[in-house]
Amino acid sequence: MDYQHLFDEINTAVRPVLAGGRAADYIPALAQVDPTRFGFAVADLAAHTCGTGDWRIPFSIQSISKVFTLALVLAADGDRLWTRIGKEPSGAPFNSLAQLERASGIPRNPFVNAGALIVTDRLLTLTGDARGALRDFLRAESGNPAVDFDPAVAGSEQRHGHRNAALAHLLADYRRLDNPVDDVLEHYFWQCSLTMSCHDLALATGFLARHGLRADDSRLLTRSEAKRVNAVMLVGGTYDSAGEFAHRVGLPAKSGVGGGIVAVIPGRCTLCTWGPAIDRHGNSLAGVTALDLFTTRTGWSVF
Ligand code: DON
Repeated sequence: MDYQHLFDEINTAVRPVLAGGRAADYIPALAQVDPTRFGFAVADLAAHTCGTGDWRIPFSIQSISKVFTLALVLAADGDRLWTRIGKEPSGAPFNSLAQLERASGIPRNPFVNAGALIVTDRLLTLTGDARGALRDFLRAESGNPAVDFDPAVAGSEQRHGHRNAALAHLLADYRRLDNPVDDVLEHYFWQCSLTMSCHDLALATGFLARHGLRADDSRLLTRSEAKRVNAVMLVGGTYDSAGEFAHRVGLPAKSGVGGGIVAVIPGRCTLCTWGPAIDRHGNSLAGVTALDLFTTRTGWSVF
């Protein structure tokens, strides 16, 4: 497919959105990013990539990391994980304490923060170094050995992550964590601070388009585990606007407050967009606009 015409159209469509929005500021280090940045990348099943705008500029992946920690834990544990975490849409903010309390410490899905903390806890038990295992996996899948943490972002979140600390303590109170709260939080904050470009993230998400096969053709997930990750991305990857996102874009996707969104077209390709200005749900305004246009013009959605 010749993407150039579509990329031009997308670049034009996102301009007004870029001018209007603001980057996340609850993690002060993220507020310093230029809100007019925009990138879009496509990677096919054979890892050929193309893109537009700032698609090779690294940014903070934030909650997009939750897709990859989930995949690493599923690869080791299979369906056992689902006894600790639900697979339902949250319908509540990604950092809701009230929802976790009502469910006695069983998070709605692995992408709300409480669910992601449990996944990180499990990855820590499995590997002894959750953040290191994640970084190595992302380096391998993206083919970029320079993928790394941003200590300024990790430190900034550590200093301001009161709500995540509260969630982790609530989980510990319900005996839902195997590791000390401070260790789980530290690995979680560092995993969110990884920086990658749209190009790297589109490649790293490829195993979900290849039904579980990694970049080197080895199997990470069974076909049905890959389906489960895509399914939970569809119902929970964009939090309490997952319905609106499915309505507009129609793809499994995961957003991060750094302004990135990865999306999967199973059996065809992966997409990654970046635009730092986010809406009140934590999803990139430009990213949703771009993905909406992409699936509308190509007709490629899962529906
Ligand atoms: O837990 C946090 O607050 C962040 N490190 C990640 C949140 C995030 O990206 C939510 N996504 N849209």
